[in-house]
Amino acid sequence: MSVVEKALRKAREAKQGGAEPVAGEAAAQADANSRPSAPHAFAGAQSPPIVLDRAALRAAGLLPPVAEERRLSSQYRKIKRPLIANAIGRGADRLPNGYLIMLASAMPGEGKTFTALNLALSIATEKDFSVLLVDADVAKPQLSRIFGLEGEQGLLDVLRDPQLDVDSAIRPTDIPTLSFLPAGKSSADATELLASKRMEELAQRLGERDSHRIVLFDTPPLIQTTESPALMHVAGQVLVVVRAESTPQPVLLDALETLQEHPAVSLVLNQSMRSDTAAYYYYGYGEERSDRSTAPPSE
Ligand SMILES: Nc1ncnc2c1ncn2[C@@H]1O[C@H](COP(=O)(O)OP(=O)(O)OP(=O)(O)O)[C@@H](O)[C@H]1O
Ligand SMILES: [Mg+2]
Repeated sequence: MSVVEKALRKAREAKQGGAEPVAGEAAAQADANSRPSAPHAFAGAQSPPIVLDRAALRAAGLLPPVAEERRLSSQYRKIKRPLIANAIGRGADRLPNGYLIMLASAMPGEGKTFTALNLALSIATEKDFSVLLVDADVAKPQLSRIFGLEGEQGLLDVLRDPQLDVDSAIRPTDIPTLSFLPAGKSSADATELLASKRMEELAQRLGERDSHRIVLFDTPPLIQTTESPALMHVAGQVLVVVRAESTPQPVLLDALETLQEHPAVSLVLNQSMRSDTAAYYYYGYGEERSDRSTAPPSE
């Protein structure tokens, strides 16, 4: 039974039993593959590094409030471990193209971009890895916008022009282990470009150029967009971000149906409840979620 089938079954059981609507599901195991090791030629080294202005990112709602940072880091550590394990085959089978991880969600506003950035920052602290954050939400390139790179050369340009080397479009950041590929100049044929053979080749190349690189794709919602279903074919792992107590269950089930064929789907439960005095974050990953209480996670 595939992971999505299991998730669907669980969700249906939960619906029948009137239990909590959203459940996590561990990533499926798949045949091991290996990726060639290649020397790390740093991409876009000529471009000035993006300075990650934490205050601005916080103000834009893409980083947690200072008081919540430690708690969130601890949660992201838990979320990244199985993803990395699947990518490199440490304590788990190495997934084919497992280093290519797509952040997905059923609906807009569930926290894909927030999760992509915070996960990228967490992976960037790992000694053995670097991380490339790709803005594949070409219709609404929030990350490109916040880094001041909207409309700059990026993913779509590289896909459009075979002469363009992807390395020239990748921007370094002031964190040496974190780089960024902007969405690029938008066009009417964006979905076709993302679904093209060239996208597959490009994604492979992004990983092959550096055997220690994890690539995170921030994408549009699965429902009502055509870009995400196109992208899921290139990703070795899909992390579905679910905003708890917000996503209607039928919508989540529809989204999971679109991922039915994918061999490695994980769910992360993302819920924030804010008040003037407190902010709570709940994350779950795979089977672990069912063991967690609904109290804010502790360190
Ligand atoms: N864990 C979290 N803690 C606090 N705020 C969060 C969290 N996750 C998401 N948010 C907030 O929710 C809003 C939506 O998040 P985000 O932009 O990441 O969603 P998205 O899935 O990328 O949406 P879209 O599909 O429109 O691109 C943002 O304002 C973000 O600050
Ligand atoms: Mg987004």
